[in-house]
Amino acid sequence: MPPAQNSSRSTHHRSGDAPLRVDTTNAYAPTVGEGVARGDVESCAAELKRVHETTAARQRGGFDADYACLGLHDTMPDSLAAIDAEAQRLRGFDDIIVIGIGGSNLGAMAVGQALGCGNRKQPGPRLHYLDNVDPDLIHDLLANLRPNTTAVIAISKSGGTLETATQYMVVRQWLNAALDKSAAREHQWLVTDPKVGWLRALAETETLRSLPVPSKVGGRYSVLSAVGLLPLAASGVDVAALLAGARANAARCVSADWHENPALELAALSYLLDTRKEKRLSVFMPYVNALRLFGDWYRQLWAESLGKRRADGTPAGTLPVTALGAVDQHSQLQMYLESRRDKVFSFVALDRWTHDVAVPLAPADRDAFPYLANKSLNDLIAAEFLATRQVITDYGHPNLTLHLPVLNAHTVGQLIDLYQRTTVYAGLLYGINPLDQPAVESGKRLTVRHLQSA
Ligand code: PA5
Repeated sequence: MPPAQNSSRSTHHRSGDAPLRVDTTNAYAPTVGEGVARGDVESCAAELKRVHETTAARQRGGFDADYACLGLHDTMPDSLAAIDAEAQRLRGFDDIIVIGIGGSNLGAMAVGQALGCGNRKQPGPRLHYLDNVDPDLIHDLLANLRPNTTAVIAISKSGGTLETATQYMVVRQWLNAALDKSAAREHQWLVTDPKVGWLRALAETETLRSLPVPSKVGGRYSVLSAVGLLPLAASGVDVAALLAGARANAARCVSADWHENPALELAALSYLLDTRKEKRLSVFMPYVNALRLFGDWYRQLWAESLGKRRADGTPAGTLPVTALGAVDQHSQLQMYLESRRDKVFSFVALDRWTHDVAVPLAPADRDAFPYLANKSLNDLIAAEFLATRQVITDYGHPNLTLHLPVLNAHTVGQLIDLYQRTTVYAGLLYGINPLDQPAVESGKRLTVRHLQSA
């Protein structure tokens, strides 16, 4: 298979579903001086094939597979009826407190924001996400809610994460104090491991409503399990379309040939830009406000999965950095252009917005802004993206663009699968386990020691 000359590819599987397009042109030399030579990727073809085959093998076996997280688009549809039934019950409340931290809330928060939950006039409950154990945050939230119209979803894969467990205890007590205990039970949902952990035991002893997180699916890869799907369904998101989008992207990534598999090409480029070109920072810069929190989801996925020591002792992973176009042109761009040449940029551009907003030039404005005649904010943000990408390219910084034709559950599902798959492939290229997080455990143990000695 010859190298693709035009590195712009689209993900399209069902008519009516919008295709995601990945443009890697500016990650390559000579288009960008400090990019990767196509020959360098080509020389890794056998390794890329091995990585793909390992992933495919570990993904086989449904929920029991080691990489069950990459197959949730196939396994979760059977659970959608159960999730929907709980979501319908939850929709009877005015407010829902969602407690979880890291991978147990970032996905739902990101998708919810991307799809406009809470900030457009939609019927249904208001969702309030609690992650940090900030006493003022939870105090102020509860002070503004009424227990009789509020539900809580506590989400923790392990079922024992301190931040989640303690905040759940506070909310449970707040419900119990206002309602009788059996009524309070009807306001509580737990999403946790099917067998082990404090939350699972509680679900059983207290007969609380609960949904399982598949045993093999860990936090940051769990947005397409009940971890993300329950709060999202409760806020009215079309979760079947989200899964269908992920499925569409997965279908695009079945080939072991990097020319035919966008996630494999992205992983190869990230790995080679780091290990051969010393590009140590990965800047994620959507030109879409609604993807701001998606940047936080990506940041955790990339950092916690890849930031590890390799077998030979050298470090793996690049530091993910989030930015927002056009805002950060007025904050970070100067540094991006002229400071250390250690960055690779991933832009996300939206082709079709939900709304067109014209720039209403008064006659007196025309002298100052003649080029704005008959233009919209849609034209302006498109021009800003193109200009920034151009200047970054002209300064010689490698960059990638993901083009979203529209922002909907299907395209967000595609993005989720693309990033999860790319991350797993990149982990295998580094020779590390992209699914664990051994180093953070020592901090957790020390927290307990501090509490014991205080
Ligand atoms: O990605 C991960 O595994 C972590 O970020 C976890 O999601 C986070 O630590 C919360 O863990 P748990 O879901 O067990 O409460």
